[in-house]
Amino acid sequence: RITTFVPILNAESSENITKIAAGPIKKKSTYDGDQVLRVFTVNSKHRKKVKEIERDGKGQRWGSNTTSVDLYVKKEKVEEVKGALEKASMDFRVLIDDVQQAVDDENPPITSEELNEFTSRKGHRLTFDHYHRMADVHGFLDYFASIKSDFVSVHTIGQSVEGRPIKLIKISSGYPNASAFWIDGGTHAREWITVATVSYIINELIENRDSLDRELQAIDFYIVPIMNPDGYEYSHEQERLWRKNRRRNFGAYCVGTDLNRNWGYEWGGQGSGKYPCQETYGGSGPLSEPETRAVADFILQRANKFKGFVTFHSYGQYILYPWGYAKRQPADAEDMDRVGRIAAAAMKQSGGASYSVGNSAALLYAASGGADDWAKGAAKIKYSYTIELRDNGRYGFILPASYIKTSGKEAFAAVRAIAKEAI
Ligand code: ARG
Ligand code: ZN
Repeated sequence: RITTFVPILNAESSENITKIAAGPIKKKSTYDGDQVLRVFTVNSKHRKKVKEIERDGKGQRWGSNTTSVDLYVKKEKVEEVKGALEKASMDFRVLIDDVQQAVDDENPPITSEELNEFTSRKGHRLTFDHYHRMADVHGFLDYFASIKSDFVSVHTIGQSVEGRPIKLIKISSGYPNASAFWIDGGTHAREWITVATVSYIINELIENRDSLDRELQAIDFYIVPIMNPDGYEYSHEQERLWRKNRRRNFGAYCVGTDLNRNWGYEWGGQGSGKYPCQETYGGSGPLSEPETRAVADFILQRANKFKGFVTFHSYGQYILYPWGYAKRQPADAEDMDRVGRIAAAAMKQSGGASYSVGNSAALLYAASGGADDWAKGAAKIKYSYTIELRDNGRYGFILPASYIKTSGKEAFAAVRAIAKEAI
């Protein structure tokens, strides 16, 4: 069962090794002096003002809830936007005072000690101290399929717009009629912490299998760490803050569909953009994108096995349940809330952060075409959650890599709690 395994690094030159988890790529500093502001919106006049700023292209929404909106503002507009907010007597504070600085600091270069460890020990390149490129994450999956082939397998379930593989790892219980549990990350390109956290969970489920509860060992886990490989790679190479996939939209200059507006349940409703230049563009139709389609087809082929579904996003520290398409509670809202609270308590108990639990449209905003709604509404997977990982806004999407282990630990606690309840 332990097949002969040749560590990939041994055969390679030291030149290749330095590519491991390369730090911030030095390219032109596009985010110099850009800021992120948290704007408090206590009434509809305030919300209107923020919408106006967005509409005029002076600020972009990074996130929002019922009391505030985080606005990303380019350097050239910072004074103007702050002036406009003051004039409207609106409260705000600066979350990030230089986005480029945050980008430069988030992913430190690999140390020589780590390099040595790699050359001597590992058969894959992934660490939990750095954010890694797709090849390292996928290599990590393949490594497990190779050395743990008795219960781990890797499947390419489809291809992205640009032809990259959508890789899924199955961690098998070994039981033919086992319940199944879904986990994914990396839907939104810039939410790097979700890819690292899901990788951490995979590592726990495999390497620490013996300390896992028996009931959890009896589950088949199906996990896709990078739902949007094109966007993920693009966010490493070109635009750190890229969100969508890389669809070339027909007849439009703007690229990309928001994969979390593209799912086929109540598609195209509130909170979903109709135009390709919007960050929340829902695509040309439900499941129009190969990335969502691949996963939908895969799940529907075995939908009745699935008892739970968790899709990871960032940021905000929320455990969200359907519906997201409108301010509407599911019939089992009470039970969804109960299990969400158990998960939040488990996260805290593990030494983690505080997560708020609630219906996603009520706690944040309505957004249709989300994966969670599809899983519950179309695939009929009852325990369907979106977990918005750290942080609370201090770093937002640019969460330093030093948080990966903390995030992984608390997220794993949440998964264990939800999975236990779900089965
Ligand atoms: N931040 C996520 C997004 O905007 C939240 C999704 C919650 N689910 C939903 N169906 N709206 O995509
Ligand atoms: Zn997201």
